[in-house]
Amino acid sequence: MSTQYQILPLSENYLPQMMDIEREVFDHPWSASLMKDSILSAHTETWGLLDPNDRLIAFVVVSAIFDEAEILNFSVAKIYQHQGFGQKLLAYLMNHLAYKKIEKLFLEVGVSNIPAISIYKKYGFEQISVRKNYYQVGDKQEDALVLQATLQPKESSHYFR
Ligand SMILES: CC(C)(COP(=O)(O)OP(=O)(O)OC[C@H]1O[C@@H](n2cnc3c(N)ncnc32)[C@H](O)[C@@H]1OP(=O)(O)O)[C@@H](O)C(=O)NCCC(=O)NCCS
Repeated sequence: MSTQYQILPLSENYLPQMMDIEREVFDHPWSASLMKDSILSAHTETWGLLDPNDRLIAFVVVSAIFDEAEILNFSVAKIYQHQGFGQKLLAYLMNHLAYKKIEKLFLEVGVSNIPAISIYKKYGFEQISVRKNYYQVGDKQEDALVLQATLQPKESSHYFR
């Protein structure tokens, strides 16, 4: 994995790059308007992992209210998957949220999404419930696992390169 990357909060300027990744990795991608609303909402944070040429490799959208947060979207561009970028961004996000005194982080993930379940388990998420028939996959429905992690700050949280 290249060590040349930076993690930054994303503005609306990155919407086209986010949508390119979103459409590439999900069968049912968010619309551009939903993505834009998420970037602009006061209750969400959008973080990106970028290469030195400002090219977006991965992004995460998280909603945070009081001491709880939820990952709403987490995507790594296909050609960069399984090269350690997802875990760099997830570790950064968890540490950043912990420093903001957020104690619990939740998310939903499809039962067949083994790469995603693996990364979340690796970072301490535990299953707390199942939502039946939550996702549409082709002409079938799939259950979602609801996962939760308890957050603790590990190192100083700031933008880094
Ligand atoms: C899930 C996702 C975000 C992981 O990001 P990534 O950059 O590919 O993951 P990393 O390279 O950082 O790998 C971290 C861990 O994830 C797991 N993982 C990643 N890719 C995997 C794969 N193809 N198969 C199994 N486990 C995998 C492993 O536990 C890995 O740790 P390891 O390298 O020690 O085995 C990425 O694959 C992705 O964008 N998938 C499509 C969108 C998606 O499903 N998002 C999550 C929705 S809930």
